[in-house]
Amino acid sequence: MRIVVVSAEVSPWAKTGGLGDVCGALPKALAGRGHLVTTVSPRYKNYPDAWDTGVRARFHLFGMDHEVGFHHCQDEAGAHHIFVDHPSYQRPGIYGDSSGAYGDNLFRFALLSRAAIEAAARVPLNGECVGEDVVFHINDWHTALLPLYLKAIYQPAGRFLRAATVLGLHNLGHHGTSAAHTFAGLDVSARWWPALDFGGNLNVLKTGLTLADKLVAVSPTYAREITDNLGFGLEGMLAARRGDLVGILNGIDATWDPATDPHIAANYTPEDLSGKLLCKTALQRRMGLAVRPDTPLFGVVARLDHQKGIDLISELTPWLVRQEVQLVVLGSGSRELSEFFRGLSANVPRQVGAHIGFDEALAHQIEAGADAFLMPSRFEPCGLNQLYSMRYGTPPIVHATGGLADTVETWSPATGRGTGWAFRPLSVEALREAIGWALYTYRKHPDAWQAIQLNGMRRDSSWNQSALRYEAVYRAALGE
Ligand code: ADP
Ligand code: GLC
Repeated sequence: MRIVVVSAEVSPWAKTGGLGDVCGALPKALAGRGHLVTTVSPRYKNYPDAWDTGVRARFHLFGMDHEVGFHHCQDEAGAHHIFVDHPSYQRPGIYGDSSGAYGDNLFRFALLSRAAIEAAARVPLNGECVGEDVVFHINDWHTALLPLYLKAIYQPAGRFLRAATVLGLHNLGHHGTSAAHTFAGLDVSARWWPALDFGGNLNVLKTGLTLADKLVAVSPTYAREITDNLGFGLEGMLAARRGDLVGILNGIDATWDPATDPHIAANYTPEDLSGKLLCKTALQRRMGLAVRPDTPLFGVVARLDHQKGIDLISELTPWLVRQEVQLVVLGSGSRELSEFFRGLSANVPRQVGAHIGFDEALAHQIEAGADAFLMPSRFEPCGLNQLYSMRYGTPPIVHATGGLADTVETWSPATGRGTGWAFRPLSVEALREAIGWALYTYRKHPDAWQAIQLNGMRRDSSWNQSALRYEAVYRAALGE
């Protein structure tokens, strides 16, 4: 198949969260299975590994003509990557800066959607273009206008008649909403307005939900939840498309493997865990904590966003400090939570370390160096950090929602099964109880603790199964 993955983020070039990881890793898995795959994403800065193809395209958007260029590279797995070059992408942040989201994001991502269609037709990848008989795998609201452009502009002109679209749903919390008058800037006929209209506003995600051939949520549980109560107002529309909606779990790729990870103090495997203790003491040192191998160390890596439930952890910190544990937090987002954790680490520096900002290497070091990982998300479409922490022998303690419910099995001493603790309902009490079980197991039953670690490390979180399931969805979208 010929597959074009269109996304605002493709790791390692651009990432604010799991969307980048998925759009970096899934194409590799698909290319490894013999498909012609390219990603299309913005060229946010100069990427030294990508070359200017010399291909240019012009689009009329928001009352003006805009010219874009296309840069290209190929990764070690054979997946291609096309970067759309336009001055509006070259800014400090992907979606916004310290004063909030960029005011022209609708333009920036409409431009990306249009450019992705042209890229398929016109950008040569080692000599050959992807062509028009393709599956566009678009992701979240940013690229959800692509099916509209296919139907409103290209197909009426006899182009891309066999192309299919699959919309990946990574987070229903963001719809790409703007005032109705912005519709005029999108350069499509007024008869398409009903596909974008949601309560009198323009809603980009709704357009994608309506017009894409197939919909994929990033876990089976999330696929159900969004038709029920977690669709942020789009539940009814999603329920109406239930027949075209499936849930496919994200996988993780080789960049997250403690046996080979170059970011961590020592590598380790399920057969020999000794390196993990070195990672723990290195993390304690780096974060200025007391260097104590026996003190239970909890890790958090997250966008400090309402979604992630980090406020529940902040409410629990007086109790956590009394339990004589350590806590390391890496995150950015909410100013209030950032200040809270900065203040806490200043007050109890031997027990709490906080790094506010984005730091890829530190994220790996926390996965490896912590004993357990906290993820009390209010909702979690899939979640990658719990998969990473299981892979790193760092049992996760999670709220049983979305992909967390699908991937973390609560430890059962009776059966010896389980990879962590998945609690419900979402409450400080339930989180405290789950942490309490983890502490009891860590301190009183080291053999059980090691069994949980090994269950997690041996769990298959690879992309193999999920890539197969995506293939089936692509074929169905193509009508094969
Ligand atoms: P989400 O996509 O909702 O943020 P995921 O668990 O799917 O949640 O993925 C988060 C990804 O972003 C992980 O790779 C995680 O390590 C990374 N991440 C989040 N915050 C930071 C940060 N402050 N520094 C480095 N990596 C981060
Ligand atoms: C989103 C979700 C997260 C998911 C990621 C990749 O950002 O919040 O749960 O893992 O996308 O699909």
